[in-house]
Amino acid sequence: MDSDDTPSNTNSELSVPSPYDNVLVLRQTNQLIALLTKIRSKETKRGDFIFYSDRIIRLLVEAGLNYLPVTEVTVDTYTGNTYTGVQFEGKICGVSVMRAGESMEQGLRDCCRSVRIGKILIQRDEETSEAKLYYSKLPEDIADRWVFLLDPMLATGGSAIKAVEVLKKRGVSEERIIFLNLISSPEGIKHFRDTFPQLRVVTSFIDKGLNDKNFIVPGLGDFGDRYYTD
Ligand code: PRP
Ligand code: URA
Repeated sequence: MDSDDTPSNTNSELSVPSPYDNVLVLRQTNQLIALLTKIRSKETKRGDFIFYSDRIIRLLVEAGLNYLPVTEVTVDTYTGNTYTGVQFEGKICGVSVMRAGESMEQGLRDCCRSVRIGKILIQRDEETSEAKLYYSKLPEDIADRWVFLLDPMLATGGSAIKAVEVLKKRGVSEERIIFLNLISSPEGIKHFRDTFPQLRVVTSFIDKGLNDKNFIVPGLGDFGDRYYTD
């Protein structure tokens, strides 16, 4: 049953459709496109960039939570009746790819109280675009958890792939990782999916491609700079 009759956006440039079952592109509603238009614009200053990015991050987290397993539960209601629904099962944690991925931690905390957060510092070489791993600090029991991997940009895919390699070395299976991402490129999605065919991705938009500096186009520029320093 789907009773969602809110209008989808028709005139704007919309995401490339998801080429894979395990890559969810958020529904291209007017609301989402308006938020993305704000953060893509060169005119948008840091305060607004943070505000509108945070709203998209919240949508991504809410969509990602739907992939967690649930068990049936029956509760007593105030009318003397019962209601049979579900509750989430299993432990979760967030892992942010520093620096830009840290911007997504609060959105996860807003939905999952006291959630554990791990960090992986990966930086792209500005000349070669090669992703380099510098540091990681993860919850001890991460292999027993569902992991929300947080990084707003998926360009060549090198950084996200490196982050998943770190998680897999710590015993996390691909099936238990959900990658939350704001904007991706078709090349990055393909590279990531070819490397980790089981891993779920939730993104708000697949853009047209990459430029000669491996920046996503039309994109939004350097997410970390715009969120933290510009
Ligand atoms: C950005 C972004 C991703 C990566 C994506 O980080 O946050 O981690 O680039 O590019 P890729 O898919 O080609 O690897 P960057 O290394 O610029 O660091 P930052 O988070 O400090 O901005
Ligand atoms: N990192 C960003 O912040 N933006 C891009 O377009 C590519 C990598």
